[in-house]
Amino acid sequence: MQDPFTSRLATRMQGVKSSAIRELLKMANQPNVISFAGGLPAPELFPLDAMRAAADRVLERDGRKALQYGPTEGIAPLRELIAARANAADPHAEPVRPEQVLVTTGSQQALDLLAKVFLDPGDPIVTENPSYLGALQSFRLFQASYWTVDMDDEGAMPQALDPLLARGPKFAYLLPSYQNPTGRSMGPERREQVVELFRRHQVPLVEDDPYGALCFGEPAGATLRSLAPELTLHLGTFSKTLAPGLRLGWVIGPEEWVARLAQVKQSSDLHTSTLSQHVALEVMGAGIIDDHIGKICAAYGERCQAMLESIASCFPAGTKWTVPTGGMFVWVELPQGVDTAALLPAIVAEEGVAYVSGAPFHPNGGGENTMRLNFTHASADVVRDGIARLGKALTRALEATTA
Ligand SMILES: Cc1ncc(COP(=O)(O)O)c(C=O)c1O
Repeated sequence: MQDPFTSRLATRMQGVKSSAIRELLKMANQPNVISFAGGLPAPELFPLDAMRAAADRVLERDGRKALQYGPTEGIAPLRELIAARANAADPHAEPVRPEQVLVTTGSQQALDLLAKVFLDPGDPIVTENPSYLGALQSFRLFQASYWTVDMDDEGAMPQALDPLLARGPKFAYLLPSYQNPTGRSMGPERREQVVELFRRHQVPLVEDDPYGALCFGEPAGATLRSLAPELTLHLGTFSKTLAPGLRLGWVIGPEEWVARLAQVKQSSDLHTSTLSQHVALEVMGAGIIDDHIGKICAAYGERCQAMLESIASCFPAGTKWTVPTGGMFVWVELPQGVDTAALLPAIVAEEGVAYVSGAPFHPNGGGENTMRLNFTHASADVVRDGIARLGKALTRALEATTA
């Protein structure tokens, strides 16, 4: 007999399976497992002292305000600061005004709000192939269908994007800077070409940009928002530059659309934690953020290098991989016939190494021979050790399939 909940499930929930992200975060937390799975920053590099001092100052000086309810759009000085930082990063663009900023509970909330504001069941949206799993899940909950764009080393290819935008999707969701999951980034010319297509077809563009500041090589370049502010909703976050536990992100966009998202946010959580907002503001005011970003970028660059060198020497012949200049991920394509999802349980159990298999990042299927590897969470030595073990296991598996 069905339990009384199951028979009352909303239609939209019927295709929803257990979240792959949640499953992998569980796996990443097992002791003795070297995890390349989650998108976790290095915890030893969190600016703990600065955060503690900032929290103390906030509670001492503004405690009653910081513990009170706040405005749905976010506290005014934080919106001003986010606008000011966006303007400093893109000095040639039309300046962002604080009214164009909505503070969100992580950028993940912004994805949920976008889905609620724009998507009816079956609505098509354009995404890169592969794309960020958490976004695909948010959009899928609102029954989106996906038109996927093929990518080259610089991300979405204009010749593939053009006909899809011409068909009039609800919006396109792109990650132009150090993409999750591939680590690929658009160069300046690609950015111009892509923006010109959005202008021509008048399609809204959602630019998800959690990694743009995490650069240890080629800088990410102008945001798509700065090139087409009238068409772009730009998502940012403090999760990768400060700490994900703050749950602080933002949307920058045309004021009218930011206000629409705020309307929906109100019924979702009233507002983002006032305490988190005040603490982040105080940390930013202490002027440590740019030094801190410099420090994590240097560490992540070293870890990425260790991963790339180890892949080159330990992975089976015929493997291809991306060479990121920022962000958190390397994308690996193994020879056809290797099923990375099928291999994962045994590799975790026998080698003590975890990764994310690539198939779930492909909205319409495929990618069984791919995987995403995170290089930021473990030290360079641990990265080398883990990749050597993984390489051995993959080589064995490949030999078994060709034997
Ligand atoms: C591309 C992308 N967008 C959004 C998020 C959500 O980040 P948060 O909600 O912590 O800001 C992540 C997290 O890994 C991500 O990789």
